[in-house]
Amino acid sequence: ASIRKETENFELTTPEQLEVFRLRFLVRKGLIAGLFRQLKDVAKEDRPAAGERLNELKSFAEQRYEDALKQLQSSGSSSKSQAIDLTLPGRTRFPGSEHPVQKVLGDMKTIFSAMGFTIETGPELERGLYNFDKLNFPPNHPARDMQDTFFIKRAEGEQDDVLLRTHTSPVQTRVMLDEEPPIRVICPGKVYRNEAISARSYCVFHQLEGLYIDKGVTFADLKATIYSFARQMFSEDVQLRFRPSFFPFTEPSAEVDVTCYLCNGKGCKVCKQSGWLEILGCGMVHPNVLRNCGIDPEQWSGFAFGMGVDRTALLRYKIQDIRLLFENDVRMLDQFV
Ligand code: PHE
Repeated sequence: ASIRKETENFELTTPEQLEVFRLRFLVRKGLIAGLFRQLKDVAKEDRPAAGERLNELKSFAEQRYEDALKQLQSSGSSSKSQAIDLTLPGRTRFPGSEHPVQKVLGDMKTIFSAMGFTIETGPELERGLYNFDKLNFPPNHPARDMQDTFFIKRAEGEQDDVLLRTHTSPVQTRVMLDEEPPIRVICPGKVYRNEAISARSYCVFHQLEGLYIDKGVTFADLKATIYSFARQMFSEDVQLRFRPSFFPFTEPSAEVDVTCYLCNGKGCKVCKQSGWLEILGCGMVHPNVLRNCGIDPEQWSGFAFGMGVDRTALLRYKIQDIRLLFENDVRMLDQFV
């Protein structure tokens, strides 16, 4: 009975276990054959019953062995594949992931493309002429200090500066100089500012500029466009705040805040306890800018906006510090796979 139990409970999954089983029970010198040899010592009247039990044990053991062998062969782990050690840990593949800023930029492009905007890009190393002058920043005007500029070349006697663009608005300049209205473009890209680094500001960040010039474009069109964008980007019941503001290249101008989703409007370090986070500047394109770029302000009007992509990513993914977006720490990037 104990041998019967043993044949029942014997683990038969690996080729090695099968071999041990065979040698222990099934071969001529094995346990079962041994029992058969002992039959002769059993009392005559008990012998047929004992013999029957032994035969039953033998065929049970053979059957288990055969079944296990078939199982092994069909699952492919026959002796040939013993070279593969299935207990070794697998090789991890690191597929990489899209950076949160690129994800948000991608969504922005999708939303504005659906509204009919096409995408334009421009150089990060820009002429002062396009970054400032054409955009109605008067020479030596304090407005230039609004955006602390990284100047690359400011040669004595030369008219034009070379600088790292401080906003994506010079791409508008380039588009207006190149194209006839109607114009409907977005211009995504990196911009640079020489300002104090903090949880909400970094020396490099991303903007997405929008420009729409056509006949009879009004501030209402601008507002509707921004609202439609924000509903798709954040949520259907998003709250926006348009605050009057000043930019040399737009009149009237506004800055737009969105509820700080990091603290749900309660106040945190990213929104400086205000409950709002500024995400874009906008306004009606100044007639001087249209004229500077060869467009007749009597015939055409338009709006422009420039939004912070990184700020939007912070809100979207509830990230507390803009610097995390630029440090490329894999522990942070891994979370966006
Ligand atoms: N260029 C402005 C900035 O960087 C944003 C802006 C763009 C404002 C277009 C009005 C119109 O702050």
